Formats: sequence, C-alpha cells, structure tokens
Amino acid sequence: MYDLVIEGRILADGSPVDAYLCIEGGRIARVCKQPPVSGEYGEFHRQGRSLLLPGVIDTHVHFRDPGMTSKEDFTTGSISAAFGGVTTVIDMPNTRPPTIDLGSLMVKERIASTGSVIDYGLNLAIMGGSDLMAVDTLLKGGANAPAPVGLKAFLGDTTGSLVFGTISSLSKWSPVVENTGAVLALHAEDGSLFEPVKDPEDVKDILLQHSRARPAASEASAIQKATEALGEQAGNAHILHVSTEAGLQAARSSRATVEVTPHHLLMDTKWCERNLEMQAMGKVNPPLRTPSDRAALWGGIADGTVDTIGSDHAPHLIEEKSQGYLSPSGMPGVETMAPLLLSEVSKRRLDMNRFVELCCSSPADRYSLAGKGRIAEGSLADIMVVNLREGRKIKGDGLHSRCGWTPYEGMVGVFPGMVYSRGEPIIDGENLCGKPGRGNNVRA
Ligand code: NCD
Ligand code: ZN
Ligand code: ZN
Repeated sequence: MYDLVIEGRILADGSPVDAYLCIEGGRIARVCKQPPVSGEYGEFHRQGRSLLLPGVIDTHVHFRDPGMTSKEDFTTGSISAAFGGVTTVIDMPNTRPPTIDLGSLMVKERIASTGSVIDYGLNLAIMGGSDLMAVDTLLKGGANAPAPVGLKAFLGDTTGSLVFGTISSLSKWSPVVENTGAVLALHAEDGSLFEPVKDPEDVKDILLQHSRARPAASEASAIQKATEALGEQAGNAHILHVSTEAGLQAARSSRATVEVTPHHLLMDTKWCERNLEMQAMGKVNPPLRTPSDRAALWGGIADGTVDTIGSDHAPHLIEEKSQGYLSPSGMPGVETMAPLLLSEVSKRRLDMNRFVELCCSSPADRYSLAGKGRIAEGSLADIMVVNLREGRKIKGDGLHSRCGWTPYEGMVGVFPGMVYSRGEPIIDGENLCGKPGRGNNVRA
C-alpha cells in the first residue's frame, strides 16, 4: 500500500519517459512504467506531461537568522526556497551571533528546526581563533547537536566580517578535515590583493570599480594558497562562487571542487549597466565580472570543471542597497536559481541532465546527503514538478524572501508547479502547503 502515486515523466538516461512514482513513508518505494492498481495507494496525483525532477539542493544560502531577521528569517528564507523548487538548503554561518561553536550551533538548530519548511544543513565558520578539537567533536556529531554539514572559511572580508586570517594557516585544519571527511567551503578572495576603490562617489561605475578593487588575481591567489595549504586534503575544499576565468583555472589545477552562482552566470558588469534599476543591486562578493569571465564560467559548466551551482542567497533590504558604493554586498537568489536555469534549459543553453547534476545530485554527493538529489527507488521523495513551457516573468514583489526585490526583475523563470518534500506537497501552484517546523536537519 503506497501513500501516494505521482504520474508524470522522469529523466531516464537523459530522456523523458512516462513513469509512476510510488511513495511510501516519504521515500520513492517504486518507479514503474504501469500505474499500480487502485487499492494499492492512498492518493494519486496526475502531473501529465510535466517532468518530475529531484528537488534542488542549494548548498549556499544566508538566511540571516539569528540577528538580521529584518532581511530574512529561516521561515521566510525556506518558503522562498520552496517556491523555487529547493527542498534542501545549507545555511551559512555569518549570522549574529555567528555559527562558530556548540552554543551558536544549538541556537541556530533551534531556529531552523522550529522555523524551516524544508530540510536543511548548517555550516560552521572557522577562524584563526577556532578551537580545533571542539570543531572536530562537533563534526563527528559527538556534542549533543546535529553535526554541521561542513566548515566555512571566509578567506577575504565580506558581509559579516568573519575573516579567517592568513590563508596559509589553513594547513592547521588538514588533520581535522582528514579525520572527519568534512567539506571545507571556501570564500576564496585574497584580501592582501584588494585595491582601494578609486571613486566611491561615482554611482555609474560602482560595479566596475568593485570588480577592480577585488580583482580576478585575488580570487586565483586565494584558491592557489588555500589548496596549497591543505595539501593532500585539498580535495575536501569546495571553492564557492568562482567568478573569474583565472579563478576557474586555479581551481582546475587543484583537486578542489567548484561552485558557481546564477548571478555570475547570468550577469556581468556590462549587462548590469543596461538592465539594473540601481547598479548596487549587482554589488556582490566576489564581484560581477566581464562578459568574457562570464563566458568562461559557462565553459566550466560544459567541460565539467564546475561541480555545483549554489545561489549564494544573500538578501539585504532595498534601503540598504540604495547607498551606492556603500551598499552591502549580496543579493537574493534562492527562489530564482532553478527557474532561471530551467529557462536556460528551455532555450537550449543548458543541458537538462547537467542542470540536475549541478543543482541536485552533485550537491547531494558532495555533502553526503543520503537519499537526496535523485529520482530513484529508495530516494527521499523530494520532487519538483516542472513544465518547461510554463515560463513567467519574475517580479520582486511576487517572490517570497522578506527582502522583497530581485536583480532579475522582468526576466523569465520556469517555476515549479508543485513541490514535494519527503512525499508531502509543500508548494501547490501559488499556495504554500508546508508548515514551518516540518524541515529536518539532514544530520539529525
Ligand atoms: C554574502 C552575505 O551578504 O552574507 N555576501 C555576498 O556578497 N556574497 C557573504 C558572502 O557569501 O560572501
Ligand atoms: Zn562568500
Ligand atoms: Zn555566500
């Protein structure tokens, strides 16, 4: 007896085929070509010719909770994620207080477990002064709190000021990484190569100036120094939001894995001049780059250098973003990531299987999220229902993040018609059906 059967199409060896997903206890118990006989199931959902894709795993979100909940909290952030087809998130530690030890991890765990609509994992920040033994214990789940899914080091200064310190001292962390197998997520910018901003008052050229102040060389240098410092353990490093051709090249010559973001793929400084209402909406770390850097990132997607796509959802209020060069860096993106990429798929600029790899199966593998990221027998029934012909214009005030704006205003996104998390509908069209607090910690 199945709880639910979903009829639709799944990708089999890359091509869509008709299928029935039989769901029991939150998992896909069977995938069949013929419908089970009535009486064998509770509910039956007809999704017609729509694709049943794995729910997206966004391994890079800043939900701002605790401490900055006027921008976002775990509930608004996770609802926004769910509407964009995201069924699992990994939250970053630059909150207030920052997630750096058992106490702050437990505070965030309470917030997430009572507020999240979707499943989540938490990252722990490491810095010069971190207690290596304590972090090791936390990672092994031996401290009365669900283990963090990974470590995060901000190698250059960015929102939250949790700068790691001298990059070469990452070598100290090799044994911890080796012992625990933890993923070490790196914000890779080398602050020693930052340059002063020439003219902060020049509102028109904010983004070009930002990119010059935090040059491509600083990204490449941070990647090189960090992977050198980690030595044998460099394979455990996941280089976040790689933005330049030089950065990509540095990552290629290391064993680290690579994340890129939708904003670096879809926007560049030139594009912003034409398309953004306010240039500072595009201010982000690492900065948006040149059209040729952007093309290089697409090259990295095509040639396999890029392992995952993460949104780096970093909401700030529009008032904060209205201060020209003084605006904080970061932009929202968790709700628009899959819709924008699916729109690229519909225009044949991105292969559908590659989309599923980059946004679902590879993030699950990278962070060892058992049962996540695949439509297969035995997997968790995290599913988004997608019809590539149903694109619609993105509007900031129609999205669900508390920040209420998007840099992608007016662009077309393919939003999922329905989203299931562990077999439960959490989004049905315009309606939220999932309740805050239903989300589980992936390490619980
Ligand atoms: C992020 C934020 O606002 O938390 N900002 C950003 O520009 N990407 C921090 C970060 O990921 O560097
Ligand atoms: Zn970052
Ligand atoms: Zn980030």
